[in-house]
Amino acid sequence: MNAVFANLPTSIFEVMSRLAREHRAVNLGQGFPDDPGPEDVRRKAAEAVISGWNQYPPMMGLPELRQAVAAHYAHHHGIVFDPEAEIMITSGATEALAGALLALIEPGDEVVLFQPMYDAYLPLVRRAGGEARLVRLSPPHWRFDEAMLRAAFSRRTRVVLLNNPLNPAGIVCSADDLDLLARFCAEFDSVALCDEVWEHVVFDNHRHLPLISRPGMRERTVKVGSAGKIFSLTGWKVGFVCAAPAVMRMLAKAHQFITFTTPPNLQVAVAYGLGKEDAYFTRMRAGFAASRDRFTRGLSRLGLKVLPCEGTYFLNLDIGALGEKDDADFCQRLVKERGVAAIPVSAFYEDAPVKSVVRFCFAKTDATLDAALERLAKGV
Ligand SMILES: Cc1ncc(COP(=O)(O)O)c(C=O)c1O
Repeated sequence: MNAVFANLPTSIFEVMSRLAREHRAVNLGQGFPDDPGPEDVRRKAAEAVISGWNQYPPMMGLPELRQAVAAHYAHHHGIVFDPEAEIMITSGATEALAGALLALIEPGDEVVLFQPMYDAYLPLVRRAGGEARLVRLSPPHWRFDEAMLRAAFSRRTRVVLLNNPLNPAGIVCSADDLDLLARFCAEFDSVALCDEVWEHVVFDNHRHLPLISRPGMRERTVKVGSAGKIFSLTGWKVGFVCAAPAVMRMLAKAHQFITFTTPPNLQVAVAYGLGKEDAYFTRMRAGFAASRDRFTRGLSRLGLKVLPCEGTYFLNLDIGALGEKDDADFCQRLVKERGVAAIPVSAFYEDAPVKSVVRFCFAKTDATLDAALERLAKGV
């Protein structure tokens, strides 16, 4: 057995979902929406299963989807990608990240990661032979600065893995922070692997800025996106990777021996969906923002302290303000005694965890959010 996986504990998402079932709790733990996703996109997939091509699609992805990804990013972010040489379709962002780490890292290379981090990152880095260098972000702003990067980067830094917008913190990186990171990538000749699955789920006046579009980053960034998050269809696992041709050739070699392809019918539907009118994306964001605001208002009325949420499906509660010392204990109590499941943010840290914050997924119907609030009103 490989030690990286043999030593992994059961994921917190599984633990909390099991407790949620046992205690008939309102599950605001795992990050998936109640909404079934746009019907026209789902119909396209169904039609493609019945009347379309169901054999192996091209390894790099259906040409129509690669063109749709290029058109989508040109329209929404003003970046021009060559669909032939710079775009590849993967089975979710997770496969894209795994493949990129396998393709880019040699055993002993260092990888800079930001805590709190998505649970897949560290095992994937380690299994690829990378040595993690962790930057610790903390509330309420969750920002990195020059001193933190200076302490983490070295001549052996091959990759820096950035998640922006950041799950679970719910922040969107500013242009200044991205440019600071870009300076370090240039100084240490590192590649930025940028997990941007939440790129469309940003609120208020925040704008998502892809790192690949910042000066000097075009040739040294791997941009990862996910249709699952764009269309609230998290089970679809259709991801997109964009990178300059020389980097893409390496990524394609890893992809060909991991999954090789991604279901063609889902690719057809995603190609259709990416071309949807701007109003769809505006409405999607407005819907999530309304849920965020409803839940924020409810929690605030109960006297609870909510941290700002600029993007993603997640709202964080500052339980330090309640005198609570341990987020994991708090979440256990919450699910067992109040019947509401949340995720302790300490689970997103490898060391020196922040233990004063718990994460709720607000991408739920009003009825679900109200049911959770009603239960929380009995005391936390
Ligand atoms: C930061 C981040 N990266 C990657 C993923 C997984 O994306 P996919 O389902 O496309 O593999 C998620 C899902 O929650 C996520 O939050």
